[in-house]
Amino acid sequence: MSMKACIGTEDGKVTLGSLPKPQVGPKQILVKVFAAAQNPPDWYLLERRTSTGAVIGCDFAGIVEEIGSDVPAGVRKKGERVAGMIRGGVKDQWHGTFAEYCLADAELAVSLPDNLGFEEASSLGMAAFTACQVLWQNQKLPTPEKPQSFPILIWGGSSTVGQYTIQLAKLSGLQVITTASSKNHDLLKSLGADAVFDYREQDVSLKIREFTENKLAYAIDCVSEGDTPKHVGDSLGEDGGHVTVLLPVQVPREDVTSEFNLVMTLFGEAYIVPPHSLPAHPEHYDLAKKWVKLMSEQLASGYLKTVPVKVVPNGLADVMKWLEYHRLGKVSAEKIVYRISDTP
Ligand SMILES: NC(=O)c1ccc[n+]([C@@H]2O[C@H](COP(=O)([O-])OP(=O)(O)OC[C@H]3O[C@@H](n4cnc5c(N)ncnc54)[C@H](OP(=O)(O)O)[C@@H]3O)[C@@H](O)[C@H]2O)c1
Repeated sequence: MSMKACIGTEDGKVTLGSLPKPQVGPKQILVKVFAAAQNPPDWYLLERRTSTGAVIGCDFAGIVEEIGSDVPAGVRKKGERVAGMIRGGVKDQWHGTFAEYCLADAELAVSLPDNLGFEEASSLGMAAFTACQVLWQNQKLPTPEKPQSFPILIWGGSSTVGQYTIQLAKLSGLQVITTASSKNHDLLKSLGADAVFDYREQDVSLKIREFTENKLAYAIDCVSEGDTPKHVGDSLGEDGGHVTVLLPVQVPREDVTSEFNLVMTLFGEAYIVPPHSLPAHPEHYDLAKKWVKLMSEQLASGYLKTVPVKVVPNGLADVMKWLEYHRLGKVSAEKIVYRISDTP
């Protein structure tokens, strides 16, 4: 049986084509994808020609249709509503989620409550797992089981990663200071942010430094482009600190360490996709399984809110147009989502 799929082409673009429905592997689930969400790496991989011939996309929400032979009993149910991320869009290795079906790690799918739409749930994937990684794996900050209160700066709080990081940092008891355009301040406060600053103001770092009484020591740069590493560094207190960056950049301040975090290590296997060459970290996979449980519980309780979504018309027919929209920086506090059944 064949399926519609959005496939990378040799010129770094995509075409809507047809591919065989994938065969489930022993530790995987086959998911009928209802909605797929877009992330910046979707176009990074296309630009580097890494996606040529592969289905693009990393985030999905849909229904479990088949379960692999080695998946432990009780982990998954056929017909279950799930969401998550995969390593999509890498030729000769992984097909992606911008298709009618995708394969996912059976243990890394988040169970969805009945009242959460697939469109909203598709936004969880890469962003929510990145949020868990930066807080509890990279920065080793307090977990929800042992909350503590001290300030953390989440630069770019209205980004998808930022919105999930704010909510999870609050679950750990932290005091969240964040930045966004002023039109998004109310949204970030509704997610729990304690203080929101407009990053377009010239003296924003000084204001954050004053607000935190020159003591801020932890930050996550959810933009990591242009002048954001400098602004983040300038916001930290007199003793310096530690910044997690999401692109390979450095904070230009000697008493501040910058550490690049790549969500692709989540699967516990090596990630060798130029320019990245990361060894396997089985312990990251163990942590990710805990986070899956946490996310499922926090969605069910109503604490964890998904980000606002922009469901674009025509399903997968205009992906190139929406990748360009995203690449040009037009996305503001929203996730671009494709409803697969809308594809002509
Ligand atoms: N390393 C990894 O594993 C990993 C994983 C996921 C994403 N990423 C990277 O993380 C970044 C965020 O990804 P995303 O999908 O969450 O992004 P996104 O949702 O597309 O980000 C859009 C947001 O960025 C904000 N923004 C833009 N410039 C800003 C600035 N100078 N200061 C503060 N905020 C600014 C905008 O805020 P306003 O609209 O409020 O102005 C907008 O809401 C991207 O660079 C992405 O490539 C890395």
